[in-house]
Amino acid sequence: MRTDTDNKLKKRELSHGLATEAGLPVYPSTGLRVAVLGGGFVGLVAAAGFAQFGHTVALVEKDPDKSKELRAGRIRIHERGLPELFGANLRRHRLGVFSELAEAIKGAHAIFLAVGTPSLPSGEADLSAVFEVVETLGPLLTPKQILVLKSTVPVGTALQVRNRLSKNGAAKKQVAVVSNPEFLREGTAVMDFFRPQRIVIGGDQPEAIETIAQLYRVGMMDACPIVVTNNETAEMIKYASNLFLATKVAFVNELANLCDAAGLNVTEVTRGMGLDSRISPEFLNPGPGFGGSCLPKDLDAILNLARKQGVRLSIAEAVKEANARQPRLVVGKLEKLVGTLKGKTIGVLGLTFKAHTNDLRSSPALAVMKRLEEKGALLQAYDPVAEGEARALWPELKLAPNPEEVAEKADALVVLTEWPEFMALNWEEIGQKMKSKNIVDARNLLVPEILARLGFNYLGMGQKPGEA
Ligand SMILES: NC(=O)c1ccc[n+]([C@@H]2O[C@H](COP(=O)([O-])OP(=O)(O)OC[C@H]3O[C@@H](n4cnc5c(N)ncnc54)[C@H](O)[C@@H]3O)[C@@H](O)[C@H]2O)c1
Repeated sequence: MRTDTDNKLKKRELSHGLATEAGLPVYPSTGLRVAVLGGGFVGLVAAAGFAQFGHTVALVEKDPDKSKELRAGRIRIHERGLPELFGANLRRHRLGVFSELAEAIKGAHAIFLAVGTPSLPSGEADLSAVFEVVETLGPLLTPKQILVLKSTVPVGTALQVRNRLSKNGAAKKQVAVVSNPEFLREGTAVMDFFRPQRIVIGGDQPEAIETIAQLYRVGMMDACPIVVTNNETAEMIKYASNLFLATKVAFVNELANLCDAAGLNVTEVTRGMGLDSRISPEFLNPGPGFGGSCLPKDLDAILNLARKQGVRLSIAEAVKEANARQPRLVVGKLEKLVGTLKGKTIGVLGLTFKAHTNDLRSSPALAVMKRLEEKGALLQAYDPVAEGEARALWPELKLAPNPEEVAEKADALVVLTEWPEFMALNWEEIGQKMKSKNIVDARNLLVPEILARLGFNYLGMGQKPGEA
């Protein structure tokens, strides 16, 4: 459903020609106003992206230090293209960082909630930040404003938000509650915002849904399918998607273990599988387990929902169990190479849960390292971008300024994040610095036959030693 306004906007885009900035088009101003609450991965990308689309964006970040930094265009998170995009839109005055909620939401057509929803010890999603914002917002909302839940929230949250709003009087103002889950991937978040594979919009008020669709359509033209549904289905789509991805990772990790035992090369097996479009090659790389700020917590939340509904999600339970085993398996591979770990120096390459981010939340690298430490190993670690975050999280950890120093007198190395720069290292030189040339490549990043030629004892994940 394309409206006249859409058509006008599309014509305007085309007639202005699309100037590029950091490889992205700069769209003309749309006159639409958006507020984004929460200046984390999701909020920052949405705020900068919507501003680039030509909307006027007001961002609110609760943490005063972060907020001050953002106002000056400084971004703590490592996300390719984001500082440039954010800075350009600040300078263009399309994007402003506010500390007062009332001021930020004034005149906003849509107010996006992008606050964190971490796991409680029970596995349930902690919705306190969402509800805190809703309570504060209630009296401040003006008629027909749209409250958009972008945070990942359990099925039924939009309804709870609506109930809370009706208690504090906002319902009389015909405020709409729309669910618009986010699917961006850290590391490629900016491109994911501009080239999403789908946009999901859930709600019960067609006009509100259309306004949210329009916010995106300006930048996407017709390139991206928009899935319109009710709030609960939108909420479930997000959890179901993450459960599926987690399952795929757990599946390939187990497959790699089987290939290890059977003397097969999993990379060849997954290539043969991934060419089938029903399977696809994405998320078919074995590793030390999935981590990050989404998959583990969303898996816990969906298991929690199933428990409450009296439904058994046996696949999800098995995925959780298999993922918890995976770091132990990596440690086992190191033991295979060096024997007892007590007193052995292990050099760690990569700390983040994936490459191209400085996010250490639930990183499997940390789980591997904790276990190595428990077994008496002496750790020295390197990460290209997360040194500061690692220092804050694990002050006693010995951090090296480069991979060469991580290799110094090491009994073994372990690659825990698939940073491409590790592929380009001078492995001959690295080997010369080590006490013993042992390496566990928990990301199947390196070429086993090259390392074997340089005299390394190499173990990958489901890779025959010394095979490409
Ligand atoms: N990080 C991802 O890759 C990703 C992807 C898709 C969905 N999500 C979901 O999006 C949501 C946000 O994730 P994130 O990674 O951006 O979280 P985050 O923890 O990085 O950021 C949340 C930010 O919100 C701020 N905040 C908290 N309460 C606030 C308030 N009342 N007003 C203003 N700011 C407030 C916090 O200080 C923090 O900076 C979560 O529900 C998450 O599950 C995350």
